Amino acid sequence: MRNWYLKFLKGISVNGFSKLGAALVTSSFIVFVFLQLLWFTGALTNAYIGLITYLALPALFITGLLLIPFGWMIWRRKTGESLKELLTKRFDEDDLAAQTFCARLSRTVIILTLINLLFLSLGGMRMLNFMDQPHFCGTACHSVMNPEWTTYQVSPHAHVKCVECHVGEGLDALIDSKFNGVWQMISVTFNLYERPIPTPVRNLRPARETCEKCHWPDMFHGNRIKTIVHYDTDSLSTPRYTTLLMKIGSGERGLERGSHWHVSRANELRYASVNDEREEMIWVDVRGRDGNFKRFHNTKPPNTPTEPASVRTMDCVDCHNRATHIYEKPEWAIDRRMQRGLIDRRLPFVKREVLGALIKNYPDKANGMKMIDTRLQGFYSGLRTEDTQAPEAAVETAQEIYQRNIHPGMNITWGSYPNHLGHRFGRGCLRCHNSNLVDEEGEAISMDCTLCHSILALEGDEPFEYLLPTGGDTTDATREIHRYLRREFIDYMGD
Ligand code: HEC
Ligand code: HEC
Ligand code: HEC
Ligand code: HEC
Ligand code: HEC
Repeated sequence: MRNWYLKFLKGISVNGFSKLGAALVTSSFIVFVFLQLLWFTGALTNAYIGLITYLALPALFITGLLLIPFGWMIWRRKTGESLKELLTKRFDEDDLAAQTFCARLSRTVIILTLINLLFLSLGGMRMLNFMDQPHFCGTACHSVMNPEWTTYQVSPHAHVKCVECHVGEGLDALIDSKFNGVWQMISVTFNLYERPIPTPVRNLRPARETCEKCHWPDMFHGNRIKTIVHYDTDSLSTPRYTTLLMKIGSGERGLERGSHWHVSRANELRYASVNDEREEMIWVDVRGRDGNFKRFHNTKPPNTPTEPASVRTMDCVDCHNRATHIYEKPEWAIDRRMQRGLIDRRLPFVKREVLGALIKNYPDKANGMKMIDTRLQGFYSGLRTEDTQAPEAAVETAQEIYQRNIHPGMNITWGSYPNHLGHRFGRGCLRCHNSNLVDEEGEAISMDCTLCHSILALEGDEPFEYLLPTGGDTTDATREIHRYLRREFIDYMGD
């Protein structure tokens, strides 16, 4: 068999081109099969080796396949010999196997082509599958995607593939994304990409194709009580409790209200913003199911040139733009960890000190990690604390916050990617809900503090307790809940 294959190789290698071709085909095939076995055993997971296995090797294989007939063509032009004559001449008269092979040349070529096609399509399928894995997207271009990969892994969507939000369904989406991928590889190779990477509003699949496969507006309902704890910067890092009743609402037919009113099928909201950052609106249109149409226009148009405006139909990511790549605000990042006990409040001024260490501008990551340690250890070294582990734990937590949010290599620092949900990390909802955006009657998009949430407690000293009034004393807040629930009930059941 080995003998036969060597003879076959000799037969098809008529000149330099075909020889190179045969060598490429054979070697890339052997290496591919070998790596493939390693992939199956799970020994390989590295994205770079993946690129070699599924891109470089098949590319070499195809190049080799093309070189062989190219070599033949040149040979033929030079000698005028047909392929059959050529091959017959290259074997001994008494080599039976080779003679049979030459006699059945066309059949052999067809069989070999089929085998090659099978091999290539299997490789291609494995390649597409491999490139759909978050691990590939997140690590193939390590330093570039590292911020997105880091924030993704700690998000509620850590088990949703990147491609489920970024590629969407259908062949055109797939082809689009592969063209895009080729461009991305070129821009990474030649260092042409922007830092930080701009938010892909124009390329993102419509939320109807992505988010709504798993969450759909008809299924949201009601309200959610949400308590947010913030800590002061005093020596005790005193906690403050804010409790909101979030009016999440629904897009369900007949029940459209609350925040998800914007995405109910009954309404279509379109807006024009000055640019892709979608911070400054020019106008906002609302078209209802009943044909009602209303335009709110900005009475204080921004000075920057408005052409070409970016026009968009509002969907999930206009509010939940950070459901996956969640960058924190430094104050809140600390609050959340203090709430979980990762930073010990018994350390005097710990909120203030950790914050001070985090918001400093460090030249690179290694330096930042070291300076955070030096600064906090320095501050607490002179102080006696009951628990000697506490300063170390605070340092570790501060470093973890820094690692997650700050990426000097990609120019990502605090606030590089604002969060549109709410109004305390950038303008968020208030980009539209403000007094400058008015309709024909001069009515503005509401900014009423109880439109989106009721405020049951604001920076209180104690956690808010949710108690329905039972006849005795009632606080303003419980009365507010009661009023709210009653209104809800009337909305549903009729008065
Ligand atoms: C649940 C959906 C979802 C998943 C899963 C997801 N992304 Fe995203 N991604 C988004 C959205 C939405 C934006 C745009 C944010 C905006 O509009 O501000 C985005 C933005 C980005 C950006 C642009 C930079 C930025 O933060 O705005 C990159 C790069 C990116 N994603 C890469 C990835 C990678 C790599 C993965 C997988 C490891 C991934 N994404 C997984 C929804 C997702
Ligand atoms: C493949 C399914 C899938 C897709 C696609 C998906 N999600 Fe999710 N989403 C989930 C799961 C699962 C959770 C976690 C639920 C939990 O922890 O309760 C989640 C959680 C969330 C949460 C947090 C809910 C909470 O209670 O805090 C938000 C907000 C969200 N998704 C919005 C989006 C948006 C916006 C998109 C589109 C860009 C999207 N999702 C795409 C499956 C998905
Ligand atoms: C106008 C802004 C806005 C739009 C558009 C929007 N949401 Fe929301 N969504 C909110 C707010 C506000 C909350 C409550 C957040 C909180 O509790 O902190 C919420 C909550 C959620 C939750 C958690 C629900 C729960 O019961 O706890 C999910 C999941 C979610 N949204 C998904 C989506 C999806 C999917 C879309 C697109 C179909 C969407 N949202 C469109 C503002 C919006
Ligand atoms: C692109 C502009 C835009 C953004 C961004 C936006 N809204 Fe709105 N919102 C509107 C418009 C327009 C209306 C309807 C105003 C009217 O008809 O008077 C509205 C109405 C509402 C309503 C009342 C719905 C009802 O029950 O009738 C709520 C609640 C609401 N928005 C919450 C939010 C929240 C929460 C956010 C941020 C997470 C947000 N909106 C962001 C444009 C926007
Ligand atoms: C258009 C909708 C909307 C309007 C109007 C609005 N808010 Fe909010 N607000 C939100 C959303 C959404 C959040 C929740 C953000 C989150 O999940 O962290 C929020 C959060 C808050 C918080 C808690 C933030 C924190 O970290 O402690 C406070 C306090 C607050 N709002 C006060 C107000 C006040 C006061 C007004 C009136 C001037 C107001 N809001 C008007 C949507 C709105």
